[in-house]
Amino acid sequence: MDRTGMPIAVVASRIRREERLILESFERRGVRCEHVDPRKLTVLLADGRPPYRAALMREVSHSRATSVAATFGALGVPTLNRLGVLDVCGDKLRTALAFHAAGLPIPRAAAAWGVPSALDAMAKLGHPVVVKPVTGSWGHLTARVHDDEQGRAILEHRAALPNPQQHVFFLQEHIDKPGRDIKSYVAGDRVVCAIYKNAVGDWRTNTAIGGAATPCPITPELTELAVAAAHAVGGGFLGVDLLIDREGRMYANEVNHTPEFHGAIDATGADVAGFIADWAVAEIESLEAGGHREVSQR
Ligand SMILES: Nc1ncnc2c1ncn2[C@@H]1O[C@H](COP(=O)(O)OP(=O)(O)O)[C@@H](O)[C@H]1O
Ligand SMILES: [Mg+2]
Repeated sequence: MDRTGMPIAVVASRIRREERLILESFERRGVRCEHVDPRKLTVLLADGRPPYRAALMREVSHSRATSVAATFGALGVPTLNRLGVLDVCGDKLRTALAFHAAGLPIPRAAAAWGVPSALDAMAKLGHPVVVKPVTGSWGHLTARVHDDEQGRAILEHRAALPNPQQHVFFLQEHIDKPGRDIKSYVAGDRVVCAIYKNAVGDWRTNTAIGGAATPCPITPELTELAVAAAHAVGGGFLGVDLLIDREGRMYANEVNHTPEFHGAIDATGADVAGFIADWAVAEIESLEAGGHREVSQR
């Protein structure tokens, strides 16, 4: 493979610890790479292919990530993850539909497009019920609802928000988890690392709202569900959220297409950035060799 030709673009408007480690991991492997900040990027369509061998998408803004991936893809620069994967993972309803189609265990879920029908869905799912925006992360605006009065208040407030995406109501059965859930990191066919996210002062376990990471053993059951969930959304390098109830049953919750992993590194010592670099190089080589991407991402 020609590692000295065009660089791999690491597309990110912010260089966090994750992106710095990924850039360092490429460099350590002798793979040319370059940080590309989309806010400083100009793409003239008539110029043809942008000067990148491939693009590793690490952009946290979903609209920027999808539009850069669409632009690069159309002009001949393959992106990891693929646009279709970003699209599905960026929408919790579409992710749940992909899981459902694949027959995976998931919390019972409903979609509704008006306050009365969302209240009806709540009654059918039974309280407590979880209401979350179809787009968003870090636990933002994800609410656990205990009764109809609270539900109506939350839904009415959602309906009053200006962003039309907030008017798509996605509801899930609440899984009574023992104070923690699981984040697993999947590269292609393998789980490279997994952590428990332990709730600290909140029912949500997101690290961004104080959740603490501890190592989680990678059992065959975890691997089977995490890899199946990653495949269901199209595969790649992905962060897969799993919920686990008090009886130990596991459910697929959501998939992050640009997962943060500093908590996982600190908790487990796993070289997640190194796994990403190795996976990305293998994917790109397979693409360049004319391999079938659908197959090679599995
Ligand atoms: N159906 C559910 N049952 C129990 N806990 C949930 C459920 N959905 C979400 N949570 C909790 O809320 C957190 C945030 O929800 P999630 O769907 O992962 O959205 P995001 O992380 O994108 O904000 C999860 O990590 C989990 O701790
Ligand atoms: Mg999550």
